[in-house]
Amino acid sequence: MQGRSDRLRREGKTIVLVPTMGCFHEGHLSLMQKGRSLGDDLVVSIFVNPTQFGPGEDFEAYPRDLSRDLRLAASAGADAVLTPTPEEFYGNGFQTSVSLEQLPNHLCGLFRPGHFCGVATITTKLFHMVRPHVAIFGEKDYQQLVIIGQLVKDLNFGIQIVGAPIVREPDGLAMSSQNTYLTPQQRPAARSLYAAIQAARRLVSEGVTDPVEIVKTARSLMEVHADVQIQYISVCHPETLAELKVIQGPARLALAVTVGKARLIDNTLLTPPS
Ligand code: PAF
Repeated sequence: MQGRSDRLRREGKTIVLVPTMGCFHEGHLSLMQKGRSLGDDLVVSIFVNPTQFGPGEDFEAYPRDLSRDLRLAASAGADAVLTPTPEEFYGNGFQTSVSLEQLPNHLCGLFRPGHFCGVATITTKLFHMVRPHVAIFGEKDYQQLVIIGQLVKDLNFGIQIVGAPIVREPDGLAMSSQNTYLTPQQRPAARSLYAAIQAARRLVSEGVTDPVEIVKTARSLMEVHADVQIQYISVCHPETLAELKVIQGPARLALAVTVGKARLIDNTLLTPPS
């Protein structure tokens, strides 16, 4: 990968990386389409990264379908697909990790200890291997996007990080490989995240500035579904991710719940009227 990238760079080509864990859905394809439009060479990585799964999480069961993914990546215009094995990435006495001090201490980081260290480490490896000019991450994993932005700034990677909008099912549910775990009976419960998001946006556009009121409304919309177990509902600063006491400018609403075996996250920008 490094040799290939060095050659392309010498030829003046712009390399774009879309890092993924595979099991592609429309959300991944939209990242690739964006990538295609931002550079000359589109590299997609597919790697279910063991170090970002905690004990009891779904690493073994994580949905995988490499041959389908390769077909979809080719039809989305990928020039190269990187599909390492865990041994190739973490063999040979691997012992280095990359961690951030503050950003992981919010939102998902509180429920998934070590997760963002695994994400930062694998992303660092991918960046060194692929040497992209641009890398694209979905906004659905908002905390991940903020963390990668900070990592790249702190360690001078010289890579432009681009966030791509959340892609939703027709009923509003954010696309995610976790959705494959939902039964048809659990679907209304899963949809309640989007109902909560819409209600929060409406409240803020009407001038509500108190996060407590927004969280209460979001909670009540989700809790009516017995299948929903709320992990967190947070109205936070879009850059530091710290909880806000009052909404005075752009803020982020972030939610995480479990519905049966699926862990669902979603988020939105809250913009108060000017
Ligand atoms: O968002 C993902 O799919 C993963 O966290 C990533 C960025 C590919 C790192 O393993």
